Amino acid sequence: MEALIRGRLALVFFVLPFLSLLGTPSYVSSQELQIINAERRIDLTSHIVKVFLTLKVENTGTSPASEIILAFPPTQVEHLALLKGAATVGKRKKKNYVPLDVNPTELPDGPNGTQFFSISLLNPLNTGESITLEVLLILTHSLEPFPREISQSESQLVYYHDSAIILSPYHIKEQTTYIKTPSTKVESFTTVEPTNRLGTELKYGQYDGRPPYSFSPIIVHFENNHPFAVVEELVREVEISHWGSIQITEHYKLVHGGARHKGIFSRVDYQSRPSISGASSFKHLLASLPPRVHSVYYRDEIGNISTSHLRTDSRKSELEIEPRYPLFGGWKATFIVGYGLPLQDFLFESSDGRRFLNFSFGCPLVNTAVDKLIIKVVLPEGSKDPSAVVPFSVKQHLETSYSYLDVIGRTVVVLEKENVVPEHNSPFQVYYNFNPLSMLVEPLILVSAFFLFFMACVAYLHVDLSIRK
Ligand SMILES: *[C@@H]1O[C@H](CO)[C@@H](O)[C@H](O)[C@H]1NC(C)=O
Ligand SMILES: *[C@@H]1O[C@H](CO)[C@@H](O)[C@H](O)[C@H]1NC(C)=O
Ligand SMILES: *[C@@H]1O[C@H](CO)[C@@H](O)[C@H](O)[C@H]1NC(C)=O
Repeated sequence: MEALIRGRLALVFFVLPFLSLLGTPSYVSSQELQIINAERRIDLTSHIVKVFLTLKVENTGTSPASEIILAFPPTQVEHLALLKGAATVGKRKKKNYVPLDVNPTELPDGPNGTQFFSISLLNPLNTGESITLEVLLILTHSLEPFPREISQSESQLVYYHDSAIILSPYHIKEQTTYIKTPSTKVESFTTVEPTNRLGTELKYGQYDGRPPYSFSPIIVHFENNHPFAVVEELVREVEISHWGSIQITEHYKLVHGGARHKGIFSRVDYQSRPSISGASSFKHLLASLPPRVHSVYYRDEIGNISTSHLRTDSRKSELEIEPRYPLFGGWKATFIVGYGLPLQDFLFESSDGRRFLNFSFGCPLVNTAVDKLIIKVVLPEGSKDPSAVVPFSVKQHLETSYSYLDVIGRTVVVLEKENVVPEHNSPFQVYYNFNPLSMLVEPLILVSAFFLFFMACVAYLHVDLSIRK
């Protein structure tokens, strides 16, 4: 019987790949889809660039289409932190978004360097049908300070490079691009008729009937004094103790990623005229922590930094930290933030009896880009078979760490991701098996150590006494 089932399973696994090959609608070349309407909104108000793209795509071919291709210039893909796609269902007030899978793909006919991503549709798009897609693109390090160096009294200006026409493998019937700047101070911008500026918004288009792979480079030069807070490396250690708490230790290497500071720094000037002196510098940082944090500390290699304020309510905690000096372009600060959290808020038992940690990925500092994030989840001693579930791709490996009284060491699940933005602050889980008896190992070691010590004392005293007699 068992052999029979196994045989059948093997058959299913053998046949499935072929079935799915047959099942997918045949490949639809780019000419058979067209974009009826495209609207792009580029938000340049912070140092993290957000691009919202709305595409209405129609199938003008003869066979159903199962995927829609997005194209980007190589410089954007290099700085791509996040790319999300969703289909819009319903109209106006009843609009809903259904998330769709987006994956890198290859197309043979792209111009030099163009990189492609494919959005997989839940249901194939039949001939004559159309669908509205929402795409979110987040880019870091895409605003280039110019001039590269500024003095304390100067405002920071940056360049943004893009194309007035949306790069696409499809014909686009109508398209418009809106660029939002942080202030009305725009030094210059490329004009591609029609181009208009109104307040903090630049409008490129409407452009009609652009063939596939149309491209028209533009540069916008504008003022941006938003704090360019970049964490070059963040290591977050999450240590689980089944005795009741989770201890978090975060090691930050922070840098001001804007135009480099030149000349000398005058603290008097900085303090007396804060609105114009050091407009692009920052002296506070806000960390958003879970509710019920306790034992919060903030220190660097010199020692505790007293300038931090913690505000807590039932939903969240906010920690405001102030480095020892204000940060100007190119300046760095290295510090550690630590805190404790109640175990029962983050550690749960799954239906199959495994324990799991449910914790937030990403960086607690608000509005910060992280070049490299390393999360180390230190499991209690005696934990087995760990596995991590993260909603996006990360590098993973296991390490072993030792602390006081550890006999076999603790398993550490290490997760690594580059180019992390606040949108990555979503929950992830680490599952593991745990035998409650192993919790008794450490107390037993302590007890036996005390017992041995006691015996040694008795023996010593005994010997001592016998000498005196
Ligand atoms: C393609 O791009 C590479 C690197 O950017 C460049 O060296 C090469 O000349 C380009 N080729 C063409 C045909 O444009
Ligand atoms: C630093 O702060 C922590 C937590 O507030 C405190 O426990 C510790 O004693 C302080 N250390 C020094 C050297 O002040
Ligand atoms: C993890 O926690 C979040 C809320 O913080 C919750 O929405 C989510 O369902 C939890 N995930 C699991 C697998 O329990």
